Amino acid sequence: MDIRIVTGDITRMQASAIILGIFEGPAGLTGQLAAADKALNCAISRVIKEGGLKGKQNEITVFYTLGRLPAERVVVAGLGKPNELTPDKVREVTAAVCRNLRQKWVESAASLILGARTPGIGIENAVKTMTEGALLGTYTFRHHKTEQPEYGEVKVFTLVAPGEASAAAATTGYEKGKILADAAILCRNMVNEPGNFKTPTYMAQKANELAGTHRLKINVFNREDMVAFGMGGLLGVSQGSAQPPKFIVMQYQGRTELPEVDLALIGKGITFDSGGISIKPSEKMGEMKGDMAGGASVMAAISAIAQLKPGINVTALIPATENLPSGTALKPGDILTAMNGKTMEIISTDAEGRLILADALSYAVTLKAKNIIDVATLTGAMVVALGDFTTGAFTNNNGLVNKVVRAGEIAGEPVWQMPMGPKYRELIKSDVADIKNSGGRAAGAITAAHFLREFVSDIPWVHLDIAGTSWSEKDQGYLTKGATGVPVRTLVNLALSLAKNKPEH
Ligand code: BES
Ligand code: MN
Ligand code: ZN
Repeated sequence: MDIRIVTGDITRMQASAIILGIFEGPAGLTGQLAAADKALNCAISRVIKEGGLKGKQNEITVFYTLGRLPAERVVVAGLGKPNELTPDKVREVTAAVCRNLRQKWVESAASLILGARTPGIGIENAVKTMTEGALLGTYTFRHHKTEQPEYGEVKVFTLVAPGEASAAAATTGYEKGKILADAAILCRNMVNEPGNFKTPTYMAQKANELAGTHRLKINVFNREDMVAFGMGGLLGVSQGSAQPPKFIVMQYQGRTELPEVDLALIGKGITFDSGGISIKPSEKMGEMKGDMAGGASVMAAISAIAQLKPGINVTALIPATENLPSGTALKPGDILTAMNGKTMEIISTDAEGRLILADALSYAVTLKAKNIIDVATLTGAMVVALGDFTTGAFTNNNGLVNKVVRAGEIAGEPVWQMPMGPKYRELIKSDVADIKNSGGRAAGAITAAHFLREFVSDIPWVHLDIAGTSWSEKDQGYLTKGATGVPVRTLVNLALSLAKNKPEH
């Protein structure tokens, strides 16, 4: 989809469809909606009068113009109550409209900037969120399909700015929205890729490509390097697999004068999680190709950060490996030593994420990172607790977690802080090692977070458990079935806010 910004009178535009927003409520038709209604011989107002068009959020009504206007269709998009419109609802309605038009094989559409006049949104943010909604809502993963789709593609989506004065803000909004949406799509593509294509080596290749494109520094460490670093967790998890593990380090320098790492973004990169010797049930095991969603998120986020260029230094760290059973695999009862020297008793080889993150967090501590965020599809317990709408956040620093929550709000990716009281820590005490990798079923997401906390020293840290939010069972709003690309846009917003740039909307 090619998104363009133009100025002019939308009712005169030659497109397969022109899109106008309508609020719910008694207010009469004004502006271009009134003009279109007049041209259509009052078709719109008549349908409203008969109760067929209420303006409810995401309600879509299509009028065929039959030659009365240059465009073939007028699409009236419901925006809900005027005082309830939010940037996220703009994303949703734009996605709904684009999906509807695609189903009708409409290839070109022009739209008013929905929400442009809503206080607290404005032109730039409306265009940004429309861009995100259009691109994210029409995402499909067809890499392995040889058959043609049963729907069309909106190839040109033109956003009509009210005048020259607003075109600059609209263009800025488009550029930001495009970078954010593309990053989330990059993440979705990686997460949707099946495990036979997406090995740890593939992750490293992707990272190399991205580093080349966005001028990031990159280092990919191999098994020998991991041995030298003492990364017992990553080595232990990988030992059952025929695929070599990779430890990927990508660096963005936004303030070149200083070498410090302001923000370390760590992502779990299990390219397939069978559970290992503690093997998972086979039902839905295929979804565990998405167990590298944290890794993909941080790779995508640092790529977007490199394009937006905030004045901050960011390093992304991705420990990548498969988790498979074999004659050489890690076993329950085994004890591993992480890079920081702590010993870990293996209760379940299926609690592998925390083992590889232990090394990545230890590595971030050696970099003296000022803030650490880790992102992981870590526990089934997280899905039970918050479902797939909200990411759970765990922290040793309330100031930092509040920034993450805010960054999530702006992105339309809800984040909720979970408790981490010291009593939960007792559940991962081990009889034979420093800690054990499972605290049992109760509070499973919290005990996992406590495990990670053992490796961050006293650095401000937030752990995001995206086991629920990185994957969707169905299309919902601008999130499409399969990989969602959550929390890429949250991470980018966080980097921008830490750089003390004005927070993004
Ligand atoms: N990758 C899984 C967690 C997961 C579950 C992600 C469902 C997405 C959807 C993780 O490695 C895992 O298996 N965790 C175990 C931990 C337990 C053995 C302590 C779990 O949650 O069951
Ligand atoms: Mn597992
Ligand atoms: Zn896992």
